[in-house]
Amino acid sequence: MKEKLLQHLKGLNQEHILKYYDALNDEEKATLYQQVMDVDWSFLDSINEKKNNDTSVIEPIGALSIDSINKAYDSYKATGIKAIQDGKLCLLLLAGGQGTRLGHDKPKGCFNMGINRELSIFSLLMSHTLKVVKEADAWIHMYIMTSDINYNDTTSFFKEHDYFGYNPDYIHFFVQELNPATDFDGKVLMNSPCSMALSPNGNGGWFSSMNRAGLLKEIFNSSIEWINVFAVDNVLQGIADPVFLGATIESGKMCGSKVVRKAFPEEKVGAICKENGKPHIIEYYELSEEMRYQTSEDGSLAYGFGVTLNYLFPISRLKETLDNKMPLHVVKKVVPYIDENGELINPTEPNGLKFETLALDLIHEMDDCLVFEVDREKEFAPVKNKEGVDSIDTARELLKKNGYEL
Ligand code: UTP
Repeated sequence: MKEKLLQHLKGLNQEHILKYYDALNDEEKATLYQQVMDVDWSFLDSINEKKNNDTSVIEPIGALSIDSINKAYDSYKATGIKAIQDGKLCLLLLAGGQGTRLGHDKPKGCFNMGINRELSIFSLLMSHTLKVVKEADAWIHMYIMTSDINYNDTTSFFKEHDYFGYNPDYIHFFVQELNPATDFDGKVLMNSPCSMALSPNGNGGWFSSMNRAGLLKEIFNSSIEWINVFAVDNVLQGIADPVFLGATIESGKMCGSKVVRKAFPEEKVGAICKENGKPHIIEYYELSEEMRYQTSEDGSLAYGFGVTLNYLFPISRLKETLDNKMPLHVVKKVVPYIDENGELINPTEPNGLKFETLALDLIHEMDDCLVFEVDREKEFAPVKNKEGVDSIDTARELLKKNGYEL
């Protein structure tokens, strides 16, 4: 077994993974062997890949403003409710992240937003969904992506809370894949003598993970046409929003994205735009000085719509993209690791590289997109950080403003 591992890892320049191998017991050796063999090592190529964006033409994209939505509200809503009743919508909660910035030792969804009572993030998301279920009088299938790391905690939290009143037959958990994290030189970090520091491979690979989990067959054979994909950490977002669904259907566009107007031009949020004619999300740090302050005819920011990670995708198009490999993004993050003396180090600053696919890349696979504006005071309360911007405190403030008792 050791010889095979050594050969495999030598070719990848990662022999140091076996540093402690001889001291491991049989079970530990088997664990390490399995980890090494399970990994798709092509992720290492992305460290040196240079993105060639020279030929890309970035342009602003039009959006459906809150005013326009309000004018056609009743029609959009009726279309959306009908589609839900016809079983055309399913939901996907992305809950596989590690929430390192929040630093909570359980899944982010278990975090208690309450002060004097228990009000977990999961309970908030499920109650938003239940409102629509009640209105449409139809259950909606909800898929929940976890990672191997938080699967048990997540599933038992749902069980302990009786699925927050949701019909358990309509809740389906699945697990996303993991990638090793490396140091800044591309050497895989270990978090114990027998284990690589593995972390979830990003939020973009959910469709192929659903495929691996065998869930797509049932979707393809059902009446489901749309999937509403959303993040775990926006505690105010509308889920299964019939107005959003109806507007996307009526627009005839291929997909939809809920956006908020940027609070100020420098806000650190990805902005929706077009790249070479396709919908695209440009990160705040990719915007040139000129683009950051560019305005449209009506005086608003040309790149002023920030994405909230709440999308509607058509199943038929996703099916066509299934064989396409998603690009991997290399991100600097905090990764606990064992040092050369075998001691576990918990860094406070980013010390390693993680390799992640991003949901925003899927948007680029679509021909066009309905950019659907929502009121950030009512629908955008992300819990990303312990304190400061997009933190527990800012989200609690917004919950209170929206009438929640904490
Ligand atoms: P973030 O990009 O905020 O990452 O995820 P994160 O892991 O939750 O938090 P940090 O960056 O470590 O602090 C946005 C959404 O994508 C999900 C998260 O659970 C969240 O809903 N996600 C992220 C996954 O489902 N899988 C991943 O591998 C990464």
